[in-house]
Amino acid sequence: MDEKIRIAIIGYGRMGREIETTARSEGIEVVSIIDPAKDGATGKEITKETIGEAEIAIDFSSPGSVIENIKRVAGLKKNMVIGTTGWYVQIEEARRLIEKEGTGLIYSPNFSIGVNIFFQIVKEAASLIDKFPGYDPYVYELHHNQKTDAPGGTAKELGSIILQNIKRKKDMVFDRISDRRIDPAEVHVASIRAGQMPGTHVVGFDGPADTIELKHTARSRAGFSEGAIEAAKWIRGRKGFYSMKDLIESAVK
Ligand SMILES: NC(=O)c1ccc[n+]([C@@H]2O[C@H](COP(=O)([O-])OP(=O)(O)OC[C@H]3O[C@@H](n4cnc5c(N)ncnc54)[C@H](OP(=O)(O)O)[C@@H]3O)[C@@H](O)[C@H]2O)c1
Repeated sequence: MDEKIRIAIIGYGRMGREIETTARSEGIEVVSIIDPAKDGATGKEITKETIGEAEIAIDFSSPGSVIENIKRVAGLKKNMVIGTTGWYVQIEEARRLIEKEGTGLIYSPNFSIGVNIFFQIVKEAASLIDKFPGYDPYVYELHHNQKTDAPGGTAKELGSIILQNIKRKKDMVFDRISDRRIDPAEVHVASIRAGQMPGTHVVGFDGPADTIELKHTARSRAGFSEGAIEAAKWIRGRKGFYSMKDLIESAVK
């Protein structure tokens, strides 16, 4: 395999630009930038010509375009990294497309290595809290005012980790609870949108006499793009459908 990695960036917004900066600083060649309208893009849609010699396409576009993007990129037999969030109801369709084309894909609602460590810490904490029914879990997240999905994929993942590890919790509730009490089997996952924040996630466990809080704060988008570039290196030459969990597990083995 040629040592130099060549990538395509799909979606040239805040994250697409961050990916470009990180890739160039690591000597990775950005051969194609695809975005319908942004200045600096080299193509408006995904075709054989616009993807060119890229081996891996990194997608930070919009939830509604992910499945079509997978169809086109996998159809061209290229591997993919999907950072876009909010499309997970279609995840089985995505898996089938990748299996049909025999290519590779890795996705994550959050590529930051720190957040993936945070997931493991929350998992351990939740297993412990499972044994202490007096402690009631909650999740909240804060993001910049341009984010279009709420709660974000990372907050939903934190909620899922709680459901998987605390048996008395069965469901997440995302809405404002204004006309009833929260059910003891529910976990409230709340969102705040303001200003420029790249992403803060808090998981708390409230007990009769005290509160335990675990918090991850992203200081910039660089953590996401560095993780996505690591994922691109990992998925290079691999076949199959993976999440960041698989990458982390393979790193700690
Ligand atoms: N996984 C992670 O670690 C992570 C971290 C941060 C953000 N995200 C997610 O990444 C996504 C992008 O975030 P962002 O802040 O970069 O958003 P953004 O600034 O709005 O950028 C998205 C760009 O993609 C373009 N686009 C839309 N559909 C496209 C398509 N079919 N092909 C190519 N480009 C397309 C958009 O164009 P228009 O403006 O014309 O629609 C826009 O320029 C969001 O889903 C966000 O939640 C994930």
